[in-house]
Amino acid sequence: MNNKIKYCVANWKMNFDSTQSREYLSLINKKKFQNQNVKVIIASSFIDIAVNSKYLSNDIDFAAQNIFYEDHGAFTGEVSCSMIKSFDCKWILIGHSERRIIFHESNEIINKKLQKVTNENLNPILCIGETESERESSKTEEVLKSQLLTAIQGISNDQIDNIKLAYEPVWAIGTGNTADVNTIDKVHEMIRNILLKNGYNGKNIPILYGGSVNQNNAKEIASIKNVDGFLIGGASLDIEKFYSIYNNL
Ligand code: PGA
Repeated sequence: MNNKIKYCVANWKMNFDSTQSREYLSLINKKKFQNQNVKVIIASSFIDIAVNSKYLSNDIDFAAQNIFYEDHGAFTGEVSCSMIKSFDCKWILIGHSERRIIFHESNEIINKKLQKVTNENLNPILCIGETESERESSKTEEVLKSQLLTAIQGISNDQIDNIKLAYEPVWAIGTGNTADVNTIDKVHEMIRNILLKNGYNGKNIPILYGGSVNQNNAKEIASIKNVDGFLIGGASLDIEKFYSIYNNL
């Protein structure tokens, strides 16, 4: 029996107003999350973290979808680690491809965010993944290596132990084109090897898969030894689909 903790992470992205989130939470609170080996997390808006945490059941945590790396000051529109900490939020997605592509977050910015979050003893989920053209030009390993090694610069091996990774190929996000089992297995192995070859603890780092995970493909992907959970966008907006994915982990 494998008692490794797995992660079932919903990424609500920019969906749900406050009333819709509360409705979702009241329905999901009726579900039983009895598997002690699966941690359920919802990456919601900052508004929900501030206003709706009280509606979360004990089994579920909120995560922030982004964070800024400074503590306070003239950074209009940004939210700091201490702000989310004051609402007991401990999880943060960092480097989601939508942040990288739409908001131009570079590997260097992601490194600053990751350093800040680890120094604050918060739990980062670092997202990495190649685009379709990078995959087609056989650059997957190169891209993942540079995303990963730049992001963890200045972070000690002890702190690495607290990081979770999410491999999210950009071409699989929101497209319905899930990466096939073989690809996911190989890439997760590749990610561990990048860490190990560069002197980091990579052996046990949890690696989630994300990109068009749904209730139909969850079982097959969850059966891959190298997969420690899911980061789920579209399908997480539907409680029944999300719950079914959870039950396959
Ligand atoms: P998707 O999104 O499940 O809709 O593909 C995943 C993500 O962006 O985290």
